[in-house]
Amino acid sequence: MRKKIVAGNWKMFKTPSEAKMWFRDLVGKKPDTQAEAALMVSYPTLPYASEVLEGNDVYWGAQDVSAHLEGAYTGEVSVKMLADLACKYTVVGHSERRSYHAESDALVAQKANRLLEYSIIPILCVGESLEVREAGNHVAYTLKQLKGSLEGITPQSADHLVVAYEPVWAIGTGKTATPEDAQAMHKEIRTWLAGRFDLGFANEVRILYGGSVKPDNATALFDQPDIDGGLVGGASLKLDDYIALLNAAK
Ligand code: 13P
Repeated sequence: MRKKIVAGNWKMFKTPSEAKMWFRDLVGKKPDTQAEAALMVSYPTLPYASEVLEGNDVYWGAQDVSAHLEGAYTGEVSVKMLADLACKYTVVGHSERRSYHAESDALVAQKANRLLEYSIIPILCVGESLEVREAGNHVAYTLKQLKGSLEGITPQSADHLVVAYEPVWAIGTGKTATPEDAQAMHKEIRTWLAGRFDLGFANEVRILYGGSVKPDNATALFDQPDIDGGLVGGASLKLDDYIALLNAAK
């Protein structure tokens, strides 16, 4: 049985002080959930996450990491720094990084490898644009992205890897993939992972869906056999909505 994850991706929202209050409110409400709660927050928020969430069954992580271990890389944040703040997860290859910062599959793979070296679980994002979907090339495109982004990763190193399928056309647009379309892609991803690694590995990998997940569509998505939870932007910022999403993930 794969435990579902409801991971919030807070992007560049909430100041650290706002986040700290939100964390306290979440912990105070003690959500009774079968899913794992995780929040991917801004770098300056991470110390508050570790201070308030530690020991409360809510995990945290960053939204990106440097591919470099250490050195003169102004503005970058290393995996060692994230490990020092007890990040359990960290997002790599989000479509906003891929498009606004021209991140290639090769760079995403370097970042994922770095995280795994430090026992931080990458939430590796893949997904096609509207143009690719309309041309009917979404499966080939997404699997190629996945292949490139997993370069150098072995089954031994990839323990607990999480993949997030986030079709770009569904992010922040209010357009969600139908549960059937999302399920079809998740199944393709799992089948491909079985070939790239092995069946046992593929059956354990959590594959999250992301793109306009809301409390009113989450149950139908999370009930699909190959959808193991969500990577959620907008709806994860509101406490009541986030708790509703946790409750939707049985
Ligand atoms: P929305 O849930 O706001 O569409 O964002 C999805 C996303 O990009 C999560 O990483």
